[in-house]
Amino acid sequence: MNAIDILVKEHDSILKMIEITQTILNSKDETNIHLNHIEKIIDFIQNFADKYHHLKEEDVLFMEMEKHGMPREGGPIGVMLHEHDEGRAYIKAAVEGIAKLKAGENSAFTQIKVNLLNYCELLSNHIYKENNILYPMAQRFLPSEILDGMTVDFKEANLSTPNNEYSDKYLVLVNELSIIYLK
Ligand SMILES: [Fe+2]
Ligand SMILES: [Fe+2]
Repeated sequence: MNAIDILVKEHDSILKMIEITQTILNSKDETNIHLNHIEKIIDFIQNFADKYHHLKEEDVLFMEMEKHGMPREGGPIGVMLHEHDEGRAYIKAAVEGIAKLKAGENSAFTQIKVNLLNYCELLSNHIYKENNILYPMAQRFLPSEILDGMTVDFKEANLSTPNNEYSDKYLVLVNELSIIYLK
């Protein structure tokens, strides 16, 4: 699998988790929502989507594109980075909502729901742009030896998330929640 294939495959898992999240939060019966599943989804977003996946983009792919002459500001890389930050802000607000809910503030559920649904919409559009515009651009733009070498650099970018166990844990979670929610 080349570097771009690895990123696209991770997108598939993230998109599946987005579908699960939307299914849960758009359910008519909110009393049926399991907070521990929402917390597991947030853990997935913070660690698999944001660390494991976004670090490969930010510390390797975007960096190489920049090094090879694509400006960060005013172009697609700047837009992608901005969207990563927007996503982080939604998740931060959802996490705050969970703390409030646990402290007995029932109205905080809306804060969790709105921010997670906004995140889902943002990230699915973001992934569409990466799969269809930015990654094909990278494949045309970067020399093939750089594209080949990026798989090694990905391992370094993921040093804080060093082994397969880490990604396996989150892939298992996506499967478990898919079985429950996506029929
Ligand atoms: Fe991204
Ligand atoms: Fe991505």
